[in-house]
Amino acid sequence: MPLAAPHYTGRLFFARYYRASRIFAASPVCLITRACVAGSAAFAPLLFQIISYFRFLVRSGNAHGLHSPFVFGLYAHVINHTGHFAAYEAVEARRRELLTDPTRIQVRDFGAGSRTGAGRQRRLRDIARTAAKPPKLGQLLFRLVNQFQPRTVVELGTSLGLTTAYLSAANSRARVLTFEGCPATAEVARETFQSLGLANIRLVEGNLDDTLAPTLATLAEPVDFAFFDGNHRYEPTLRYFEQLNQHRSEHSVFVLDDIHWSGEMERAWEAIRQHPDVTLTLDLFYIGLVFFRRNQPKQHFTLRFDHVVDKVLEASIRLSS
Ligand SMILES: C[S@@+](CC[C@H](N)C(=O)[O-])C[C@H]1O[C@@H](n2cnc3c(N)ncnc32)[C@H](O)[C@@H]1O
Repeated sequence: MPLAAPHYTGRLFFARYYRASRIFAASPVCLITRACVAGSAAFAPLLFQIISYFRFLVRSGNAHGLHSPFVFGLYAHVINHTGHFAAYEAVEARRRELLTDPTRIQVRDFGAGSRTGAGRQRRLRDIARTAAKPPKLGQLLFRLVNQFQPRTVVELGTSLGLTTAYLSAANSRARVLTFEGCPATAEVARETFQSLGLANIRLVEGNLDDTLAPTLATLAEPVDFAFFDGNHRYEPTLRYFEQLNQHRSEHSVFVLDDIHWSGEMERAWEAIRQHPDVTLTLDLFYIGLVFFRRNQPKQHFTLRFDHVVDKVLEASIRLSS
């Protein structure tokens, strides 16, 4: 007995402790606490974006008070252009097709969505809904390319090729180089280009970390227009920016996607704004525009794009005149 007692006591203590901990784990207090912790982890990025959006709204303006003729013209006639281009219809028809496509593909994700690059199955319709830029932003990129008529366009992050299609259709004489790491996604993008009859696109498959610099090194001409929509993290964004910065001209335009998507992206955007080669930046919340025009003071504008406030103001001005 003297030998068995401590053993028995230990087992009894463990059994009671285990039962008590199970009862506590199932208790409403613990369940509510766990739900709050899990909920706040999932809610944190959304909360960041909401706060970021309100900060943007406080700082933002519209065409009134824009003293730079270049920025005024760009904002009034290109960014806020509301007319229709025939090319929009074909790209949107392809988007509608993809949005109803239940086909599953094996996705390899290198971006901020995954830390491992591990594969997982995703439906084309879900990728079209979540990864592709919405029509308004795709069409804004179309108008920017149409305005600046770049000869060499680079897109980091092709996905299903919908934004690439807008970049390509805006200037059929341009050479569009688009980079995608996931082979199955790249395959669908190729189908997008073929179905739309877009012949000026070259898709470079592989991790941007390995493909961007060597591909840029083969270019004989500068990159006139670059759209950053690949890896939404601080370090890669700045690294790709520096690599492209080596291959641009004074007239190049860089567009960065999701500049307020996360703290990392806001820091990357801030670093690019402060970059010594950058002279003009426009923050449209969803995207940021970067210019390198010489002989002008460093300027930054925070401008509302497609915002309900400006639509109401415009309508009331039209009614009163
Ligand atoms: C947001 S999606 C691009 C959406 C596309 N620009 C559009 O608007 O339709 C980002 C894409 O970048 C790719 N990507 C992310 N990091 C990458 C990397 N390091 N190398 C290559 N591709 C990458 C992902 O596989 C994904 O398809």
